[in-house]
Amino acid sequence: MEWIERLRTQTRDLHKTAHALPFFEALWKRTLPLESFVGQLRCLAVVHGALEKFLASHATDEPFRGLLAGHCPKLPLLLQDLELFRHKGVQDILPAVDKALDIADRILVLSKENRTALVGYFYTLEGSTLGGRVMAPKIRDNFPLPEKRGTSFFTCYGDQVQTKWNGFLETLGRSIEHDEAAETVISAAGELFRSLIGVYEALYPFEADQLGRHVVSLNPEAGRHPMPADEAELQAALQAAERCWDAFPYFALRYGERGRRFAASDAAFLTTLCDVDMRAMVDQVYWLADVLAARGIPTWLTETQLRFLHEELVNTRPEKQALYDRVLLAADALRTRRHAAASRESIEALAHELHTRYAVADEPHWASMCLVLAAAAADEASGIGGGLEAVLSWLRNYRSDLASTADALKTFLKEWSRGAS
Ligand code: HEM
Repeated sequence: MEWIERLRTQTRDLHKTAHALPFFEALWKRTLPLESFVGQLRCLAVVHGALEKFLASHATDEPFRGLLAGHCPKLPLLLQDLELFRHKGVQDILPAVDKALDIADRILVLSKENRTALVGYFYTLEGSTLGGRVMAPKIRDNFPLPEKRGTSFFTCYGDQVQTKWNGFLETLGRSIEHDEAAETVISAAGELFRSLIGVYEALYPFEADQLGRHVVSLNPEAGRHPMPADEAELQAALQAAERCWDAFPYFALRYGERGRRFAASDAAFLTTLCDVDMRAMVDQVYWLADVLAARGIPTWLTETQLRFLHEELVNTRPEKQALYDRVLLAADALRTRRHAAASRESIEALAHELHTRYAVADEPHWASMCLVLAAAAADEASGIGGGLEAVLSWLRNYRSDLASTADALKTFLKEWSRGAS
């Protein structure tokens, strides 16, 4: 356990630097700008989101299993706090977002190359919740937030914070047995602490020309892709994403709120493709549609999204119709490439047949699921592989009592695909 003391000594030294940061001095003096505060929430959402994605997929591996006992995921709390600012038009401090994304990239690299280092990252992020007790009242002094809202991240463990932390340290101490691993954890904990200090340095003070909109404000897990600079275009894209989300209840059932955030950031990304040449646009649309198809979103759904996007963009800026018509051409390209059941009508006809053959009276969204299954079969028949199995395996997980229906659907749709291809 001696190594834990070395870890904590290092943290104490880094704290001295953190305390002297202009960001915290401004917070104590109640002069922190709103952009810096909201920027902090967005940057922490990027970092915590990246680590929590890794932790979710290693929740049964030691030492993460032990360290996760009683752990409270921070991304949902940060998103809850950010919700307060959703329609306030608070701009991003772009260099700070960039530094937060560097950390997320590093977490991805370490998740493949050096998982022990991520134990050190976990230590630094989990330990930083201890400062929340001090920060929450200062934040409330600095900004007029509604009662009990906006600081849920900073008060995540309530009055249990110290007890939880002691438990975390004890498990951590026990779970690292070799000096080499301990050195890796200590060094990685320091690395993340220093990187976070870099984020805070970028968050305050900042220059006006460093402000802009970044896609992480829509979806902290979206990464670095572009989004429209024009606020009206962005709103049109978000409206299209919402329409598509509502048109297919399958999205909400399968992907939940995380999927909704990706729908928003993907729609924003698709809008920016109007600015590249048509060939490059179609290539990008094919790429995105194929990635999504393999994850259970058939290309007809992406095509529908593009058609909604076209409508919303043209309604918003009719003077740019000629440019936006490229979105329609990209949707048509997807339809043509999916040569089997290319049209909406033929997908609907197949869905109707599924609905009649395999009725599931107690599933309120069965009709919508049949549409998605029909669209996945159309992809399968067109050589866009993998998607049908992705939808069927989700169905088996979603309703284990429908396993035999899923098997029968698989046989029928494979047969149909062979006939249609
Ligand atoms: C880059 C920013 C920061 C990071 C990454 C960070 C990280 C950490 C970590 C890892 C610990 C656990 C130390 C341990 O017990 O082993 C901790 C504790 C703590 N932090 Fe921070 N911290 C930061 C900024 C701050 C600031 C500005 C404050 C000022 C309020 C603060 C207040 C605290 C407090 C009160 C504790 C508990 C210390 C103790 O019980 O001895 N932190 N922090």
